[in-house]
Amino acid sequence: MRIYLDHAATTPVDPLVLKAMQPYFSKDFGNASSIHSFGREAKEALEQSREKIAKAIGATAEEIIFTSGGSESDNLALIGIAFKNQVRGNHIITSSIEHPAVLSTCEYLAREGFQVSYAPVDKEGIVKVEGIEKVLDGQTTVISVMHANNEIGTIQPIEEIAEIVKEKEVYFHSDAVQTLGKIPVDVNKFGVDLLSLSAHKIYGPKGVGALYVRKGTRIQPIIFGGGHEKGLRSGTENVAGIVGFAKAVELANERLEEEANKQRKLRDKLIRGILEINDSWLNGHATKRLPNNVNVGFKYIEGEGLVLYLDEKGISASTGSACSSHKLEPSHVLTAIGCKPEDAHGSLRLTLGRSNTEKDVDYVLEALPGIVKKLRKMSPLIK
Ligand SMILES: Cc1ncc(COP(=O)(O)O)c(C=O)c1O
Repeated sequence: MRIYLDHAATTPVDPLVLKAMQPYFSKDFGNASSIHSFGREAKEALEQSREKIAKAIGATAEEIIFTSGGSESDNLALIGIAFKNQVRGNHIITSSIEHPAVLSTCEYLAREGFQVSYAPVDKEGIVKVEGIEKVLDGQTTVISVMHANNEIGTIQPIEEIAEIVKEKEVYFHSDAVQTLGKIPVDVNKFGVDLLSLSAHKIYGPKGVGALYVRKGTRIQPIIFGGGHEKGLRSGTENVAGIVGFAKAVELANERLEEEANKQRKLRDKLIRGILEINDSWLNGHATKRLPNNVNVGFKYIEGEGLVLYLDEKGISASTGSACSSHKLEPSHVLTAIGCKPEDAHGSLRLTLGRSNTEKDVDYVLEALPGIVKKLRKMSPLIK
């Protein structure tokens, strides 16, 4: 028995996505910049994919810049805006629970002389809008707040944040890597100027993503070369990957409601079952959370031990976010919501996907209490 419950880290490529991509590795291998027929065919596939992705998020094709994934999109958005608008101001606002692709970029910008403010979150992991309003000033050029958090799944008040910058000369960026294809994403409804997307979280290939850049946005590139992607992202486009990304978006949006409803039910059953274990709690918000996200804490145990024992039983889970799980420090997200370091270490993230069933949930609920008990018996944290 093998149960994959780490869909926030990555997802398998959907067979239909793989099928759509395949010709572009061999038969239709052209460089989209070449003017001969191979090139023109690749260019057509590229532009059709751009149209599909744009349509899925309420944008126009010219507003989509293909990148190597969510991390690059976040880097391009923040560095590209900060430097291009430096003469106007040098202040950036973000939240304390962003993905490292945003936080590390902000740290870099701070080293380069920019001022960075971190808006706090409440104890359920929702960004405080008044915390942003409080630090917003004439120097602010960009605000970056993620649509939903990758660790605790909290969905942020994006529209409310957009409202406070509406009349101001401030760009609003959001990282929608965890929400695309899971809950509705619409750039106009949200009121964002920039939006980061990634293919591999939605059954597309790894190493492909996009940045939505609203028409008229003042931004400069971070990768220089042949001037691809309207000069904003040089480098021969990954045509096969981009075709796969577009197919993945199409499939995810077709199934969005059905999958969200199914996964929400499984999520809530998992949460209810897990919280029957004593000294356990839910991290994040009970309802304002991604339909596939469960993040729970257990007193007196280490999340790593839990993940390893679960793996022995065939269950793939995560302690926090896969991207930062090589770090030994407690998760910055759990710390931001007020978790004590020792409690943050005892956290477990289970993220559902299309393949999961009620049987999987029952299996986890059967396996978990025994593992928690065993780990607590060995725990030096219990006197
Ligand atoms: C919220 C968020 N942003 C950005 C990323 C990075 O995306 P990618 O793996 O495509 O670089 C991730 C991946 O874990 C994520 O969860």
